Amino acid sequence: MKATIAVDGPAAAGKGTLSKALARYFGFAHLDTGLLYRAVGAGVLAGGEALDIARTLAPEALENPDLRTQAVAEAASQAAVDPAVREALVAFQRGFARREGGAVLDGRDIGTVICPDAEVKLFVTASAETRAERRYLELVAAGQAADRAAILDEVRARDERDASRATAPLRAASDAVTIDTSDLTAEEAQAQAIAIVTRALA
Ligand code: DC
Repeated sequence: MKATIAVDGPAAAGKGTLSKALARYFGFAHLDTGLLYRAVGAGVLAGGEALDIARTLAPEALENPDLRTQAVAEAASQAAVDPAVREALVAFQRGFARREGGAVLDGRDIGTVICPDAEVKLFVTASAETRAERRYLELVAAGQAADRAAILDEVRARDERDASRATAPLRAASDAVTIDTSDLTAEEAQAQAIAIVTRALA
């Protein structure tokens, strides 16, 4: 089977957890495409040039645990505005999407640009306040310094940049099913998503 599940949505809406659960349930491979942009952002923070980094990115670069910081997320969002950087990352994502055995990709433009023919498209969202609170709790659990108000500002600024850029802005594909996770537990969101995907693949 070569089915592709596209999962898009804003930062900290629960896409990652949901996508991993879908991949596990259906036995598909999973790619967090945000890691590609984070690897570019981390390279820029280290003094590199975004396009060079995107063109020469090795899959091992995605395993760097330092990609999870807010500073890298911000640098990733900035690098992701450049159409040439985005273009350099397309082939890897499309190759992954069409691998044997099925794939789940999560990001911002999977259903709209990377895999417009995906068999299933989900748009996972939640209020900015809910997402900021979740990010705050994640950072605290990871032992990192965290400031609630600053995180909410960062979430809003990143949403604004990701949704308003000219190339591949964050938006739901016209044929995507939206799941708002604001009032759902992770398990409830997963149950909804599994039901939607099961119906779509039947
Ligand atoms: O999903 P994330 O928070 O790890 O993504 C980090 C940044 O990368 C995000 O703010 C915008 C960018 N990104 C993108 O432009 N397109 C994607 N498919 C995934 C991420």
